[in-house]
Amino acid sequence: MRIDGVAWRTIAPEADGCSVRIIDQTLLPHRFETRVLRTLDDAARAIRVMQVRGAPLIGATAAYGLALGLAEDASNAGLERAHAVLLVTRPTAVNLRWALDRVRAAVAPLAPRARAGAAFDMAALLCDEDVATNEAIGRHGHALIAERAKARSGRVDVLTHCNAGWLACVDWGTALAPIYKAYDADIAVHVWVDETRPRNQGAALTAWELGRHGVPHTVIADNAGGHLMRNGKVDLCIVGTDRTAANGDVANKIGTYLKALAAHDNGVPFYVAQPSSTIDWTLADGAAIPVEERDGAEVGRISGALDDGSVVSVRLVPEGTALANPAFDVTPARYVTGLITERGVCAASVHGLARLFPERA
Ligand code: MRU
Repeated sequence: MRIDGVAWRTIAPEADGCSVRIIDQTLLPHRFETRVLRTLDDAARAIRVMQVRGAPLIGATAAYGLALGLAEDASNAGLERAHAVLLVTRPTAVNLRWALDRVRAAVAPLAPRARAGAAFDMAALLCDEDVATNEAIGRHGHALIAERAKARSGRVDVLTHCNAGWLACVDWGTALAPIYKAYDADIAVHVWVDETRPRNQGAALTAWELGRHGVPHTVIADNAGGHLMRNGKVDLCIVGTDRTAANGDVANKIGTYLKALAAHDNGVPFYVAQPSSTIDWTLADGAAIPVEERDGAEVGRISGALDDGSVVSVRLVPEGTALANPAFDVTPARYVTGLITERGVCAASVHGLARLFPERA
C-alpha cells in the first residue's frame, strides 16, 4: 500500500542483507517511524511489545527473527534456541508457529554456514507469499461486497473489529483487503471501525490506514456495533482471525464474539478473512486455542495525543483497581457466515474447509 505516494510493506529486508526494517506500530497514528531489527532479541522484543502485530505480520517477523538468530549462532542448538525464544512471544496467532516451523524445516538440513542466508531468503519468500495470498483474499471478498452493492444499489456499510489491514500483514491485509479492492473498483463502501479497547487497534491503526488510502470510515465505540446492526446500518461484518480451528471456530481480538452474536441476531452476514496459514489443523475446535492474557495496565490506562502533539498515557480507573485483560475470544463457527480465504469463500466447518483444502482433509 502507499503512504503519501510511496509504496510500503510493513516489513522489508535492509540492503545489508542482515537486518530488517519494520514500522513501529506502537507510535501510530501519532508518529510514523521505522525501526531496524538486527538481532534475535530485537525481533522477539518487536513482537512481544507489539511494534509489529497482527497474525500474518507476527509470522513474517518471526521468520526474519529466526534468520537473525542464525546469523548469531547457526548450530543446531542455536536454531532450536531461536525457534523457542520466538515461539513464546505471543501465544494466540498460529502464524507464528507456522512461519517458524517452515523456516526451520527449510534450513535444518543445510550446513550451518548456509543456514542464515537460506533463512533470510525463506523469510522473504514467506513475505511475498503473504502479499499474494492477501491480494487473493481481497479479490474473493470484493465479490461479496460487489454483490451487496448491486442488491442495495447504494453505499455498502462494512463493520470491522481490531486491525486486520495491511498493517497486520505484509501488505493488503485480510479483512481490509476486500474493502480496498471494492474501493479501488469504485464501489461506494464505508467502514464502521470498532475502536477495539484496550489497545485501540481500530481507532489508531485501522482508521489510520483507511484514511491514508482514502476509504470513508467512522470510528465507533466498541459497544455501538449492536445498535447499528439493529438499526439496519451494517450490511456485513468482516473481521480477521489469529487462529481458526479445523471446525471453523475463530479466535480473534477480544470483542469479536459479541459482534458475531449481534450480527447473528440481526441477520447481518459475518465473514472472517484469513490466509490458510491461520488455520490450526491440529485443533478440532476452538476450545483449546490459547488466549493471551495481557497486562491489566492496558485496560487501566489509555494513551493519546494532546493538542500540542505530545503523546501521554493517563490512568482511567481508581488506583489499585483489579484489572483483567484477555486479549482474544473464540467465536463459534455457527456464527460465522463464511471464511474468505486465498482459495475462495467456504463455510466455517470441517466440510467447508475440506472443500477448499482437500489436501488437509
Ligand atoms: O493483538 P493484535 O493486534 O496482534 O491482534 C490482531 C488481531 O486480532 C487481528 O484482527 C488478527 O490478527 C487478524 S490480522 C490479519
